Amino acid sequence: MSKLRPLVSGLAPAVRVFRRISRDVNPRHHAFSARVYISSASTYHSLSSPTTFYYSTNSSKFPYHLSNTLAQKSQFGNLRQKSQSRNMSNNADLLINKVFDVKDKIALVTGGGSGIGLMITQTLAVNGAKVYIVGRTEEKLENVVQHHGKDIAGQIIPITADVRSKEGVEKLVKDLESKESHLDILVNNAGIAAPKTETTAETPEKLRENLLNPTSVDEWTSQYATNVVGPYLLTTGFLPLLNKATEHTYGYSGTVVNISSISGMVRISQGHFSYNASKGAAVHLNKMLATEIAKAGFKIRINSIAPGVFPSEMTTQESGDNQKSKMPKDHKGGLPSQRPGNDRDMAATILFVVGCQYLNGQTVTVDGGYLIQAGT
Ligand SMILES: NC(=O)c1ccc[n+]([C@@H]2O[C@H](COP(=O)([O-])OP(=O)(O)OC[C@H]3O[C@@H](n4cnc5c(N)ncnc54)[C@H](OP(=O)(O)O)[C@@H]3O)[C@@H](O)[C@H]2O)c1
Repeated sequence: MSKLRPLVSGLAPAVRVFRRISRDVNPRHHAFSARVYISSASTYHSLSSPTTFYYSTNSSKFPYHLSNTLAQKSQFGNLRQKSQSRNMSNNADLLINKVFDVKDKIALVTGGGSGIGLMITQTLAVNGAKVYIVGRTEEKLENVVQHHGKDIAGQIIPITADVRSKEGVEKLVKDLESKESHLDILVNNAGIAAPKTETTAETPEKLRENLLNPTSVDEWTSQYATNVVGPYLLTTGFLPLLNKATEHTYGYSGTVVNISSISGMVRISQGHFSYNASKGAAVHLNKMLATEIAKAGFKIRINSIAPGVFPSEMTTQESGDNQKSKMPKDHKGGLPSQRPGNDRDMAATILFVVGCQYLNGQTVTVDGGYLIQAGT
């Protein structure tokens, strides 16, 4: 602060504003704040001086906007100083750690205690995000924190909740609203699958026996509740906090990633009609949410990842003490990829979907070529 005083002396109104802001702005931004003059101008714009720009003081969200604008400009070294940047390259903006930056992002991953949710949690957390993981089994979540949450750039924080119930989701939303001012990334990953049935038979009677006898209405509705209703409740419940993420960070929009599946896209049932129907609904839900939220005028990106086969408790029925599941490489040797998906495949996909600010309403398939082989 002492370094700032000479800079602002003589600008009495500005000093008053600056002092108010200094209290609100995150201390790690202060070094940068020292280069800033504040005026009551209604818009911010760069001036010819390399260290001077104006920012609106009229907005009620002023401290947020300011701290982030400062952080963003400082972090990216991009002050948009026309006089200086006109002839300079923007190479620095295109570095991997800028394009896919998740440092200090606030994320919530449902089903983060195993399988794909754990891969996503690890990816975000090791790259500096603060990740809340949600599941029904406290022990799984604690195991994740124990094995994957230490000595990393970010944090993993467990919350026990059931995403199938409206009350459970409302409680979760309230809980997070009391802890965080915004939510940058919501990953609706929690999902369940029914056991497989045999779909071939010599006679219609046998086919009926295979398809009808083992199923129940509860099998269909419980998968629908978890795989479709859950993501709807969470996305709509977190809208205000997601929108605050958009307001919070210059050039970034709060984002939802729904983990659907290639099972919702292939024409075959893969032996589980009920699961595939729920995942088909999840793909369509993703599209509807993206459309309606955009139509309502909110800048929140909604995308889906449709994985092929990845090791998880769902696909291998087990996981180790570290909550990781294993699948032999030759398990999906018939695929064009000649192997199942792995952690890095999912890491690359989540970083792309979260990082690309121009992606909205899409389902990104990551399946080793499953769809080209099976057809849609
Ligand atoms: N693995 C694949 O090959 C594959 C392919 C395509 C799509 N997917 C999709 O990927 C997502 C993750 O599945 P996965 O394969 O990684 O299986 P998984 O290891 O079984 O993970 C699912 C997670 O969701 C949690 N969960 C289930 N119901 C929940 C509920 N009601 N409330 C809160 N958490 C709940 C589970 O924890 P608790 O039981 O402790 O709650 C579990 O940690 C699912 O949506 C699945 O459909 C998987």
